[in-house]
Amino acid sequence: MNKNIVCIGAGYIGGPTMAVIAKMNPDRKVVVVDINERRIAAWNSPDFRLPIYEPGLEEVVREVRGRNLFFTTDIESAVRECDIVFVGVNTPTKMFGRGAGRASDLQYWEASARNIKRLANGDKIIVEKSTLPVRTAAAMDAILNYGDSPYRFTVLSNPEFLAEGTAIRDLLQPDRVLIGGPQDEAGQKAVAELVEVYAGQGDAWVPRGKILTTNVWSAELTKLAANAMLAQRVSSINAIAGLCEATGADVDEVARVVGADSRIGNKFLKAGPGFGGSCFKKDVLNLVYLCESFGLHTAAEYWNGVIKMNEHQQERIVSRMFKAMFNTLANKKVAMFGFAFKANTGDTRETPAAYVARLLNDEHVRLSITDPKALDNARLDLEGLDRIEYVEDPYVAAEDADAVLLMTDWKAYPDLDWSRIYSLMRKPAMVFDTRNCLDQAALKRLGFNVLAVGK
Ligand code: NAD
Ligand code: UGA
Repeated sequence: MNKNIVCIGAGYIGGPTMAVIAKMNPDRKVVVVDINERRIAAWNSPDFRLPIYEPGLEEVVREVRGRNLFFTTDIESAVRECDIVFVGVNTPTKMFGRGAGRASDLQYWEASARNIKRLANGDKIIVEKSTLPVRTAAAMDAILNYGDSPYRFTVLSNPEFLAEGTAIRDLLQPDRVLIGGPQDEAGQKAVAELVEVYAGQGDAWVPRGKILTTNVWSAELTKLAANAMLAQRVSSINAIAGLCEATGADVDEVARVVGADSRIGNKFLKAGPGFGGSCFKKDVLNLVYLCESFGLHTAAEYWNGVIKMNEHQQERIVSRMFKAMFNTLANKKVAMFGFAFKANTGDTRETPAAYVARLLNDEHVRLSITDPKALDNARLDLEGLDRIEYVEDPYVAAEDADAVLLMTDWKAYPDLDWSRIYSLMRKPAMVFDTRNCLDQAALKRLGFNVLAVGK
């Protein structure tokens, strides 16, 4: 009999992942639960105004919602009806007490484990979907299998590698799926059950050769290692970008040729305003904390350098603007094009744009922010700051601006009418392309002063 699935946590991970699991396993019932009633109401909204924006997500939800995918706040029934429990709750950086500013805050995670224990009415497979410090499964196991419970819980680690903006594609065609499980018989049986979920009904989903299995600790650590190495690549190319600016080298040319070495590869070598998003910083900090906890201080310092470089990159953006705009930004108008941490998402968690906006605000800049998907989040992120307006239309944002500061690589931006933008702005007009996504030579011909990262 096919096992039913519940996922605790209906966020950026729980929602899209379960929608695709439901799509590829039409013979299984998949239920997503959350304590956040507004979020669940949005997932259930009749006109599909879903709580997150992700290309292709609405189509999948339209196909499966009400068929074999259900969103609810009724955790009790959901846990009782299912055999496999994914836990995809948030694990933010802890902001208090021991490990503040570095360790993972595991309170939502532990609350989920205790809920499962309280509500369970049979044996269950528990799947760690959230990103967690290595050895969290041991704590989960201790809570779930403590005492004289008649039921047996097997804890697996199944970290998620999808990136926002490409979540549906990443889920449908993943490079790999990772399942870590205990090495005993029950553990291996549970791993085999989860492999069936990812293989999909009739083996129509992930090819079995791409479903990689390991022990639990390797799986937990792999997720942190993968994110740390991706973040490190971004910091590495950004560290080279500063040197390019000082020497006349061009960071895109350097990246193109470095990346042509098949040992290095050409992905994740795009210099920019630094990495944002909910996970890179949190996961690298978590790795730093783990290294320190195990007495590996030099390793901790090494990984901490990735974060320091990222913050430095954002400070450099403001320093360069300051210098290029005659060492005073007070009362000048800057049109910020893009606020999301990357294109194709409305997510603004840890977006470089927010940090840069605050630095500009300290300089008394009048900021006009535009973004096709992230304006609501921008308003919340910058609440309480003066001299900021939020506008839908980039041309309105550019009116009388002294500079356009492009922060997010939205596809629409290169296609804007830049000669119209030039005519709307105060002169001398500047563009700072922090993503190197505009035709900078054409902008110079129009009369703009152009700044770019790594050039
Ligand atoms: P999120 O904040 O968008 O969603 C988490 C959800 O869990 C929230 O809606 C919250 O209300 C809910 N929740 C918290 N405690 C709960 C409880 N006790 N019972 C029921 N629901 C509860 O977070 P996210 O971006 O989906 O990330 C979740 C995890 O997945 C994190 O560990 C993150 O590192 C990991 N992850 C995220 C991504 C990503 O692209 N966002 C990618 C890979 C891994
Ligand atoms: C990242 C990872 O790519 C996913 O594999 C992982 O599952 C996820 O984190 C997670 O654990 O949450 P995500 O943060 O959604 O995904 O987006 P990325 O595409 O990785 O971009 C992260 C940041 O790095 C963005 O701000 C992006 O603009 C920046 N970046 C990326 C660069 O500046 N240059 C690059 O070459 C690549």
